[in-house]
Amino acid sequence: MCGIVGYVGKKNCLKTIIDGIKALEYRGYDSVGVAYFRDDDISIIKDKGRIMDLEKKIDTNIETKIGIGHTRWATHGEPSKVNAHPHRVNKITLVHNGIIENYDEIRTELIKYGYEFKSDTDTEVLCAYIDYLYSKNNDMIKSLSMLKDKIKGSYATCILCSDDKEHLYIVKKGSPLILGTSNDEYIIASDIAAIIDKTKRYMILDDDEIGIISGNGYEICDSDLKVIKKDILTFDKNIDKISKDGYDHFMLKEIYEEDDLIKKTLSYYLNNDLLKDLPDLSKYKEIYIVGCGSAYNAGLVGKYYIENYLNIPVYVEIASEFRYKKLFINDESLVIAISQSGETADTIEAVNIAKKYKAKTIGIVNTYKSTIARISDEVIYINAGIEVAVATTKAYSLQVLYLILLSLRNKGIDKNIINKISNDIKEVYEIDYKELAKKISNKEHIFFIGRGIDYYLAIEGSLKLKEISYIHAECYAAGELKHGTISLIDKGTPVISVITNKDISSKTISNIKEVKARGAYVILVCTDDIVVDKDIYDDIIIVPSDEVMSPILSIIGLQLLSYYVAKDKGCDIDKPRNLAKSVTVE
Ligand code: G6P
Repeated sequence: MCGIVGYVGKKNCLKTIIDGIKALEYRGYDSVGVAYFRDDDISIIKDKGRIMDLEKKIDTNIETKIGIGHTRWATHGEPSKVNAHPHRVNKITLVHNGIIENYDEIRTELIKYGYEFKSDTDTEVLCAYIDYLYSKNNDMIKSLSMLKDKIKGSYATCILCSDDKEHLYIVKKGSPLILGTSNDEYIIASDIAAIIDKTKRYMILDDDEIGIISGNGYEICDSDLKVIKKDILTFDKNIDKISKDGYDHFMLKEIYEEDDLIKKTLSYYLNNDLLKDLPDLSKYKEIYIVGCGSAYNAGLVGKYYIENYLNIPVYVEIASEFRYKKLFINDESLVIAISQSGETADTIEAVNIAKKYKAKTIGIVNTYKSTIARISDEVIYINAGIEVAVATTKAYSLQVLYLILLSLRNKGIDKNIINKISNDIKEVYEIDYKELAKKISNKEHIFFIGRGIDYYLAIEGSLKLKEISYIHAECYAAGELKHGTISLIDKGTPVISVITNKDISSKTISNIKEVKARGAYVILVCTDDIVVDKDIYDDIIIVPSDEVMSPILSIIGLQLLSYYVAKDKGCDIDKPRNLAKSVTVE
């Protein structure tokens, strides 16, 4: 989703700004732009499309020591040059993340004062509103402090004022913003990935804080304009250099990282007897799991484990639904928020709501010090490293792994699992998915079915496939298919059936027979302990069985199958159209 970079310092900055927005590319975007002071004037270069194309139009040797950059993921108005950031209205030029919910009303008001708008964006309205305030009081900090009284929604913004070529201004509410500091250089960003090549020292801006930054230093004020001292954090995690390491795509690289990450995580907890360091879920009467997209899907798998091993009812809720529904949670409930980025707007708000109800909150998060990590009562980092491909793979698997560890915290896990899972994953990597992928890559519709845990895995499998290959994939609980959707099964319609749970395999097999009888092309993804007749499937992916880890093994198989289908179709695998890695708007 949108990404912000700002620079002010003693050096020429366009290269740093471009490197910064490149580091944010992985979040997903459709247009890009930069603005900088050159002599006394502000230049803006922006367009729809990729950074590498914009870069050709920018002379990075230009003398400029202050500038801003942005990657936009369209919300208000199509991806286009005019809608791309930075936006300029009179003296104010800015980049913005978030959504101004009451922009229409403010726009109408500003039109009455003579403002004209070129774009369809809420950002241009924010820009004009700041210009309006500034034209009244001639004081940037004061103007920015007045935003909170008027603006509904979220904003993180980095601003140039044409009256002041020495300073960058920042203000935020809702959306994340950090300020990286190094000697005489300051970098503002929406995400640590954009600053890490320059500095590991940074501070996290809190809501309604305002910053004024020059090459000589910075001042941060609270909303009452009192100067405050912020803690400087040091990013001490090893951050992987963003590189494909010889793989064709980040997605494939990240799938291949799963072996090592899972092994390391299990070794850490099991070899050091640290399972008990994880929170004890058994003390709660009920557990809610909230998340979006694959994080929600991981929660479904977690529900299966927690209910089965801990005997506690678990309700998995899509965060954007949880926000607006009647809730029955209280101080005896636990709400687990799952989020790779830790910045998904709906999941953040779900945590805030849970806290209002006095429920205990645990964040299962990948990104260090992200918003969900900070606002949850307790945080569990999955330590998957940076995930670049928009379609999550390694983060999903580690979210599932942590949910498994939480559910088995009290029962314990045999250490032998560490070597076994690693060997098993390698076996899954060795399966040939390419031929099978070719057989289904030209299909328009694919169905996924499964029961119980296998239904939950199939949901994630179908999401992966549709995200990156653009094939319509629909997932059904195996027993539910005949209540309507079986009418869509025709000769050759692929039905991917997942069976890892022996206990109910015979039931799923019956459902497979129902679709097979109607001409379906059945691809069975199953563990090696499932006995099936050859005539019920057309193709088969057999993954090793494991009492605890089978779901992870089968999902890696489904991830790889989706990858090769998308590759066969020539899709933009790492950056599927319209999708964003981190969804910071509601
Ligand atoms: C976006 C991504 C998904 C992800 C979801 C939740 O939609 O494209 O892959 O699962 O957001 O993201 P989070 O960072 O909260 O896990």
